[in-house]
Amino acid sequence: MPLSRRTILAASGTGLALVAAGGVWRVTRTPATASAPWELPAPTPSDPRLDAFRHAILAPNPHNRQPWIIRLDGTNGATIFCDLDRRLPHTDPFDRQITIGFGCFLELARIAAAERGLRIDQSWFPEGEPQPRLDGRPIAKLTFVPDPMVKPDPLFAAIPKRRSTKTLFEDRPVDPASLQRLSSVFGMTENDWFAVSADNLPATVAAVRKLVLEAVDIEMRTARTHRESVDLMRIGAREVDANPDGIALTGPGIEAMAATALLTRATLADPASSAFRQGQAMMAETYGSIPAILSVTTNGNSRGHQLFAGTLYARANLLATDLGLAMHPMSQSLQEYPEMARVFAQMQALLRPVFANGITGPIPTERGRVQMLARIGYAAPVPPSPRWPLETRLAQPL
Ligand SMILES: Cc1cc2nc3c(=O)[nH]c(=O)nc-3n(C[C@H](O)[C@H](O)[C@H](O)COP(=O)(O)O)c2cc1C
Repeated sequence: MPLSRRTILAASGTGLALVAAGGVWRVTRTPATASAPWELPAPTPSDPRLDAFRHAILAPNPHNRQPWIIRLDGTNGATIFCDLDRRLPHTDPFDRQITIGFGCFLELARIAAAERGLRIDQSWFPEGEPQPRLDGRPIAKLTFVPDPMVKPDPLFAAIPKRRSTKTLFEDRPVDPASLQRLSSVFGMTENDWFAVSADNLPATVAAVRKLVLEAVDIEMRTARTHRESVDLMRIGAREVDANPDGIALTGPGIEAMAATALLTRATLADPASSAFRQGQAMMAETYGSIPAILSVTTNGNSRGHQLFAGTLYARANLLATDLGLAMHPMSQSLQEYPEMARVFAQMQALLRPVFANGITGPIPTERGRVQMLARIGYAAPVPPSPRWPLETRLAQPL
């Protein structure tokens, strides 16, 4: 959340003096270690599971909580658990989004394993689907199997280039052929469907935009949901390197503001502060920058549907990367807490039929659940978000 020069100038005289005094070194500060996992350093680990998981930890996931715990079993197995302390109880009361993040993780692991000629046999929620919240039972059990039939996935190379681009998008339409490619990301099992839909219809985009901005406002004005984000903000490079997760606030403006004590978790949480108001204006500006939308809908809302939604979202995000498109999830309106209920219902009603239109055959649309909503467009490249190193996510030391 880069705060503008205007905010800094609005600071008190004392604050300005501090910025000036600290400016020389502060403005050049960037996180030093937080993005190291994106470099996928050579040599490739000899254990293909570690190679798959060093890619998987780069998956998109809510508030960058990286809730995965990876237990290596024997020589070719692994069990994935949720670190229950890394959930988001206020904005994600049923752990739906956390589960979607695990779907993204599993898809990236699958793609990386395929690159080495391995199939991953996956058993999702092998000890039952935890409801209404996740618990200590495994998310998935995986077995890595050499398989000459497995083909490399064309999306593999996009894994380290993929981003959630949380900046303003260029004010130009998205190439319709790209939207069509994204809408072809689709999954079907014997009794089920899972669909991605990408759309730039002006009426749909305008209606989505209105609800998105309402939802952002509700989340920020609801003290406990806003506090959940604020508590996870890492302010400045030093905090980001110390805790490479959550919401990273970096850049010269942030370092300067943090030096004045105008930018703290307390000011960010206080609706009367200039930091809060500045953040609110910036959120409205970026979340309002919607050249086109992408959504993921599933035919139900079981834990399996949520994992499947994650696999499709990850594929769509990787494909968008290949197509030169930026993508940014906007989840506020899809969240299940009472203050959001009206906007939630309106967004579901708006987007469910859009998806259903892309599917042939009889579809019980009333069961359809919009799991992900993102804006898509063109934007300047952004740096990777922080990650904990793989070793810190393993249940046992290597
Ligand atoms: C289920 C889900 C919901 C998300 N919702 C939002 C959101 O509402 N706003 C946002 O800025 N990013 C959202 N994200 C993106 C994450 O913040 C992002 O993946 C994380 O910070 C890691 O960054 P990266 O994707 O660039 O690696 C969401 C991601 C997932 C998987």
